[in-house]
Amino acid sequence: MRAYYYNDSQEDPREAHELNPSVPVTLDELKETGVLYWRLDGEEGGQQLEKIAEEREYKNRDIVTIAPGKLPNYEEKIKTFFEEHLHEDEEIRYILEGSGYFDIRDPNDKWIRIAMEAGDMIVLPAGIYHRFCSDTKNFIVAMRLFKEEPKWTAINRPAEENPYRLEYLKSIHV
Ligand code: LAC
Ligand code: NI
Repeated sequence: MRAYYYNDSQEDPREAHELNPSVPVTLDELKETGVLYWRLDGEEGGQQLEKIAEEREYKNRDIVTIAPGKLPNYEEKIKTFFEEHLHEDEEIRYILEGSGYFDIRDPNDKWIRIAMEAGDMIVLPAGIYHRFCSDTKNFIVAMRLFKEEPKWTAINRPAEENPYRLEYLKSIHV
């Protein structure tokens, strides 16, 4: 995993969009946005995953492949993934293969790009504005974990009055 501030150039979003010079974002800075991250490697990683799932009550999971020809309605789906949105629950992703970008808004409403690859696990808190984008390799396999049934509703920005949004802002002291 590598996180850095996003450059808002008109380039294809699948490009890295790193500022020059790069402005890296540390794990502590990510934590301040409410984002959690773990590196899960090998057999031990598998055990750690189960421990996290148990402690945080992630009862359900599925596996999705986001790649042309692998995901039904691929073009349409990736467009909606890249629309800025929030959820009323945590977004929990464990990358099994490939790589891709999770972009989140920092407390000043700037985009942070989180470049994720196999072995990376992330939790985006309920109410955080974010979006997802493949990188130029166009291939990622992710485990999605859920506290409840995997019903997955994206609420596009603006959602300023959404109770989960307000709760989130309170939690980061904005
Ligand atoms: C999701 C990612 C694309 O909502 O943000 O599944
Ligand atoms: Ni989402």
